[in-house]
Amino acid sequence: MSAQLDTLTGSTPAITQVGLIGCGVMGRGIAQIAVLSGCHVHLADANAGAAIAARGALADSFGMLVTKGRLDAARADAALARLTVCDELTQLSGCQLVIEAIVEDLAAKKSLFAQLEQIVPADTILATNTSSLSVTAIAAGMQQPHRLAGFHFFNPVPLMKIVEVVGGILTAPAVVDQLLALGTRWGHTAVRAKDTPGFIVNHAGRGFGTEGLRVLAEGICSVPILDQILRDCAGFKLGPCELMDMTGLDVSHPVMESIYHQYFEEPRFRPQGLTRQMLAAGLLGKKAGRGFYQYDAAGRKIIGPDVVVSLPSAASTTLWLSPASDMAHPALAARLREGGITFAHTDRPPSGAVCIVTPLGEDCTTYAVRESLDPSRTMAIDILFDTSAHHVLMTNPATTPDCIAEARAVFGKGGARVSVIRDSPGLIAQRVVGHIVNIACEIAQQGIAAPADIDRAVVLGLGYPRGPLAWGDALGASTVLTVLANLFQQTGDPRYRPSGWLQRRARLQLSLLHPEQ
Ligand code: NAI
Repeated sequence: MSAQLDTLTGSTPAITQVGLIGCGVMGRGIAQIAVLSGCHVHLADANAGAAIAARGALADSFGMLVTKGRLDAARADAALARLTVCDELTQLSGCQLVIEAIVEDLAAKKSLFAQLEQIVPADTILATNTSSLSVTAIAAGMQQPHRLAGFHFFNPVPLMKIVEVVGGILTAPAVVDQLLALGTRWGHTAVRAKDTPGFIVNHAGRGFGTEGLRVLAEGICSVPILDQILRDCAGFKLGPCELMDMTGLDVSHPVMESIYHQYFEEPRFRPQGLTRQMLAAGLLGKKAGRGFYQYDAAGRKIIGPDVVVSLPSAASTTLWLSPASDMAHPALAARLREGGITFAHTDRPPSGAVCIVTPLGEDCTTYAVRESLDPSRTMAIDILFDTSAHHVLMTNPATTPDCIAEARAVFGKGGARVSVIRDSPGLIAQRVVGHIVNIACEIAQQGIAAPADIDRAVVLGLGYPRGPLAWGDALGASTVLTVLANLFQQTGDPRYRPSGWLQRRARLQLSLLHPEQ
């Protein structure tokens, strides 16, 4: 171990002097949590006046927190006193850690670290807040690449309590350990990640948007129905289109393309043409007033009037639930019975009944043909997700309008929401959540992060209702495997090939969080 590396291990004193270069939205956020945790922060920015403006903005937000009673006035004053504005990078010479949060440009970051190496001592840790560049590539060419690591925070930093600590190929493990400890001291959940495109959170997040877009591309349902199903049945706070509208397609679409290409056209991350076209047309989302939805001047979604569908009486309709459904009927039947929906219990459907089938990763057509059911009277529902508040009925191309209207009437009894979608393998929640679980399994398989850290990072970084590996366990690893294997078989698309991590744990009946020794 070199002399310099040695100074970065074990006995290094706790970091208290932090340089922060780039005083935009991220730099300010990082400075806020650092000074509130007792560190001295030295702010610098290429843009004259930006550091002073950042200090002013932090003083304002501390003032607001004090007014709201969420921050003690003395603590706010002490924190502000620990914030110094620097005119020159040379003023960072006494820092134990320098974090950059400048423009996302490889050449700019490399040039900044080359300058810093001439200014700070050999034992100063250097960190990048990059979200999309390779830490290894940023470190390449540095005199001491072992001292650079990724320290990736999320926006807004004080509220998004997660930081990914990313070791590049040459990063010293001690540097990663120090940043993990510091992130924790600053009140965040700090997780260790390998230097791979998207690290953990932006990698795990590829499934939701791209699979939502794939559902739209296949013409399965409309944008509002897609979003509503994923909110109501799978528990996401926002549907994929609502999320893309909020983030802005000028950000989301390039990230989708970039991660897809960085993984050498991995089909699991394949974007769709729709967002590229919307981007070209300037339909960026909320900030442009129009994206997947339209927004008024105050940024509120303009919601169209509810379409009133006139329904036949539900009383005369007999529903028949296929006993061939491979999942436990009792749970489903009980759930539906609670909502006043009952089924005929016969081996074959009574004459005129609406046949309800429950595919896993299959489409309605395949199921109806295999079971020799009348396709014109057959529809599918999802048994993996609790759809009692929002019933999702999937037709097949032969389902008649009468059958659809009858099923709508029965399932909509008592005012429950009913959506009718077109045939697709795996309905919607199954295929979107299955895809997310599969990607998380592959992140674990590739050793990008520890299984528990993947779940922690996704819940905190993406706000999903559960960590994807724990979610897969709750659905049943072998059930998720069935969904994906059927999706893969029906579409022939390697996008859905089940990860080895999932396959082995499903077969061994192990948790998806079970690490390899
Ligand atoms: P920003 O545009 O709000 O702020 C960047 C600041 O850096 C500006 O004040 C600019 O004057 C300054 N700057 C630019 N080039 C410089 C240089 N060569 N030397 C010194 N100062 C320079 O950018 P933002 O959003 O704060 O992003 C900063 C970094 O954080 C980027 O690498 C970005 O990818 C990353 N990031 C951004 C997130 C976000 O949601 N905005 C989330 C996570 C990471």
